[in-house]
Amino acid sequence: MGKSYHMDLESFRSNGYKAIDWIVDYLNSVEDYPVLSEVSPGQIRSVLPENPPQDGETFDVMLKDVSDLILPGITHWQSPNFFAYFPANNSPPSILGELISSGLGVQGMSWITSPSCTELETHVMDWLVHMLGLPNKFSSISRGGGVIQHSASDATLCALLAARERVGDKSVNEHGTNTQLIAYASTQAHSSMEKSCMISGIGRDQLRLINVDEKFSMDAHSLESQIIEDKKKGLTPFFICACVGTTSSLAIDPIEALADIAQKYNLWLHVDAAMAGTAAICPEFRFINHGVEKADSYTFNPHKWMFTNFDCNAFFVSDRSALTNALSVLPEYLKNKATTEDDVIDYRDWQIPLGRRFRALKLWFVIRHYGIKGLQHHIRKHVEMAQKFKQWIVESDNFELAVDTELNLICFAHKNGDELSERILEQVNSTGKVYLTHTKLKEKFAIRMSIGQTNTEMKHIEKAWSLLRRKANEGNF
Ligand SMILES: Cc1ncc(COP(=O)(O)O)c(C=O)c1O
Repeated sequence: MGKSYHMDLESFRSNGYKAIDWIVDYLNSVEDYPVLSEVSPGQIRSVLPENPPQDGETFDVMLKDVSDLILPGITHWQSPNFFAYFPANNSPPSILGELISSGLGVQGMSWITSPSCTELETHVMDWLVHMLGLPNKFSSISRGGGVIQHSASDATLCALLAARERVGDKSVNEHGTNTQLIAYASTQAHSSMEKSCMISGIGRDQLRLINVDEKFSMDAHSLESQIIEDKKKGLTPFFICACVGTTSSLAIDPIEALADIAQKYNLWLHVDAAMAGTAAICPEFRFINHGVEKADSYTFNPHKWMFTNFDCNAFFVSDRSALTNALSVLPEYLKNKATTEDDVIDYRDWQIPLGRRFRALKLWFVIRHYGIKGLQHHIRKHVEMAQKFKQWIVESDNFELAVDTELNLICFAHKNGDELSERILEQVNSTGKVYLTHTKLKEKFAIRMSIGQTNTEMKHIEKAWSLLRRKANEGNF
């Protein structure tokens, strides 16, 4: 028998132990690395061999190269000193779920291609409805239901496509549309809304960015005036994207008021709670979703703040037929009895691609490992630390809040202006000890302190604060 070239299963077992050991060592020492990678563009490629190997290499060599060649180019999202962008936290149960999912190697496009993949997904999506206090209309026992998407951007695009098909009375997929459809979001909405309009053929010009109030929440009166104006012009308003926790500053749009407008003018209301949505696991933070029972769709990312590694987006609709009307196609080669007899959910009809990974497994592991109490404990801790940090800013002689927020993101600036704030941010990041990013609020530069990494403790927040103050004092001449 010739050489098989495969990794035999006993070698896989011992290499697997080494891989887990490697991850444990990494997570144990992640604080020793500069949080923001210090390499320059092209540096990582320059140390990689130009051509792929003719002969296979050993796992030990590959693992050593991960340490030597790859780690320098890693920005450490799993460092407890990572305060940039938004959390993309993970946890051991999630990593193990991901590993087993890879081991099973399931392609879960239809129920028949792995019933467990579909049914576990339906089940954990229903659990999330319960855990977040979302309305029952988003659960599978109603006309709606939940599905795991790759990202919040996919969820928003799917919602837009479902709304486009609904307003076109199920004819847009068939004939396209000449109708000028108009979508609405606030000036603070995530760029995925703009991208969804680009991809779906709605067009950027047909996306109206509505003014916000002092707290950066969408102004419902401006929205209604804009809809009336567009209707007068003979245009067709069809979609509103509300945000619960904007990326820039955690602003929360008034869902209830927007939902009333959506109902009055027959528009689809989609709620994007990508990062902040996880907070609703704690009943005291459910105010963020006030009015969500009137929304047509809702999305949040367990892959941001819920200890579930990327990718894992949760997307809920109140009427699943609106979604499948927009996204379902059934070629001959995918037909099977369960599908044609309409007995099952085929999630390929709820998303853009055909193929899908078994992502429910890691979410199931996370929820079962932590339990609702464990998740609440950590979310509360993150919010408490952020609010403590906010208090320090309020009491500080040098810094001030850019906006008052109630959860885990604090936006602030130096009182002496943009230039100094920008310099302080650059300098704290260049120490490698922390990583924070910025935004602009009302044209002013603001530093963002985003708290939500799995292992962040108060000592890390204290260190970051002391570094910020030191750099402010050094730079304030
Ligand atoms: C409010 C909001 N919506 C959407 C997104 C996009 O998330 P994803 O990367 O899952 O598409 C983000 C993340 O940056 C976000 O903060």
